[in-house]
Amino acid sequence: MKDNFYITTPIYYVNDKPHIGHAYTTILADVLSRHNRNMGNNTFFLTGLDEHGQKVQQAAENFKLNPKAHCDKMAPRFIELWDKLYISNDDFIRTTETRHKKVVKKILQIVMDNGDIYEAEYEGLYSVSEERFITEKEAETGVYRDIKTLKEKNYFFRMSKYQNKLIDYIKSHSEFIQPVHRKNEILGFLKKPLNDLCISRPKSRLHWGIELPFDDQYVTYVWFDALINYITAVGYGDDQIMFQKKWPASLHLIGKDILTTHAVYWPTMLMSANIELPKSIFAHGWWLMDESKMSKSLGNVINPMDIIDDYGVDPFRYYLMREMVLGQDANFTIESFVQRYNSDLANDFGNLLSRVTTLIHKNYFSEIPSPGKFDEQELFIKLNSKSLYDNVTILFSEMKLNEAIEKIMQFIRSVNKYMELNAPWQMVKEDKIGAGRILYTAGEALRISAILLSPVMPNRTAILLDALNSEKNDCSWGGLKSGNIIKKHSSLFPRIK
Ligand code: MSP
Repeated sequence: MKDNFYITTPIYYVNDKPHIGHAYTTILADVLSRHNRNMGNNTFFLTGLDEHGQKVQQAAENFKLNPKAHCDKMAPRFIELWDKLYISNDDFIRTTETRHKKVVKKILQIVMDNGDIYEAEYEGLYSVSEERFITEKEAETGVYRDIKTLKEKNYFFRMSKYQNKLIDYIKSHSEFIQPVHRKNEILGFLKKPLNDLCISRPKSRLHWGIELPFDDQYVTYVWFDALINYITAVGYGDDQIMFQKKWPASLHLIGKDILTTHAVYWPTMLMSANIELPKSIFAHGWWLMDESKMSKSLGNVINPMDIIDDYGVDPFRYYLMREMVLGQDANFTIESFVQRYNSDLANDFGNLLSRVTTLIHKNYFSEIPSPGKFDEQELFIKLNSKSLYDNVTILFSEMKLNEAIEKIMQFIRSVNKYMELNAPWQMVKEDKIGAGRILYTAGEALRISAILLSPVMPNRTAILLDALNSEKNDCSWGGLKSGNIIKKHSSLFPRIK
């Protein structure tokens, strides 16, 4: 029986064009999806856009567009970038779609009927320019001008009611919040009494949202709306069979800045609506630029388009996956990108590839030689390829992608050493069968490595696997077919000067 694997990214705000933070989470989700598909798991990968709320309304006003027109203008920028980055999502959800609005209203009504929504008057400090309530601490910073005290009637979700149930759940489900330091952070947060959540905004100050089903003077708070996308897309309230098959999600991938909304708001909402909780929420760290946060005001935001135009999509994906230890922050620099590219891709991987294919073209009429009779060295590589596969599978399931990639690279380096030690380019002059055995072994190791790297670099590994003209999906030893013709292809990883 194969597993169901339903993975999501956050849905991105359309207040600005996509940046490296969006690209990173989406590529990570793509790599995990492709890996799961390779394993034969029933995979469903969702990404999309968060189109309501203050930020989007504000951005639209800045562009002098109505909010929907602004969203329609921004959506293709994300879709085009995902196409360019070879993102293999199965669905793309936009919260302005009818299918989603229906589900949000349905959930609001269920939660209301369960007695978990009440009306209350709220009095607090309100910043007119920011158009939101601010805390006393924020007011003290002096950043906010035109603060006034505002009294407003709103609807609240009884989040506090679920505090203990949530704590118990987190404690008894070790996989629920990952990595473990994030779980501890949430358990720490839950030591203080949990407030109820204001889930409405009066239309007098925010009109861009989903109307409450029980009061047409209000729209839904954007987070209450957005989180529900994860169940809309798999048919909640619409396609019961699909919903039962796909829900609960296996993994919500998020950045560390949106942990509370996912690990506190979302599960309590689901508890109130009597829906199962997702199996796990994984919060990754941030990409920093020269050790500091990327921000528009600092002018150091990386545009993924620039990198892929200069260096290609697969190397960009490789760098992001190889360089970040999941759960920690990572530093992005062009220098480390170039270094990583040249050492891993041009030298190790690219070198093995060009040596094997060139020698086969030159000495065997492009025909993959026969493996012949293996001696110890070949048996060792064969054995290593099997344990590599097992290791990579385990490391992926532990979300240690950088380590999985490093293991594959170590294997490739060991095969390069084997080539140097046996020098088939010399041996072929006297012993064509012996040199053939070495080239077969190295070629087969290359094929297996390419399959294992295919989730990370789907494009260039596909070219390589196509050139090898053999088994493209199965990692077990022997998929390289002697007698098949190796196709010519251009250099896959030319050195960057
Ligand atoms: N719309 C909400 C999510 C709703 S999900 C139901 C949102 N959108 S966002 O566009 O602001 O950000 C989305 C993601 O980008 C977050 O997970 C955030 O962590 C990530 N990143 C933004 N900048 C980043 C980096 N510099 N590095 C890595 N990821 C970061 O929040």
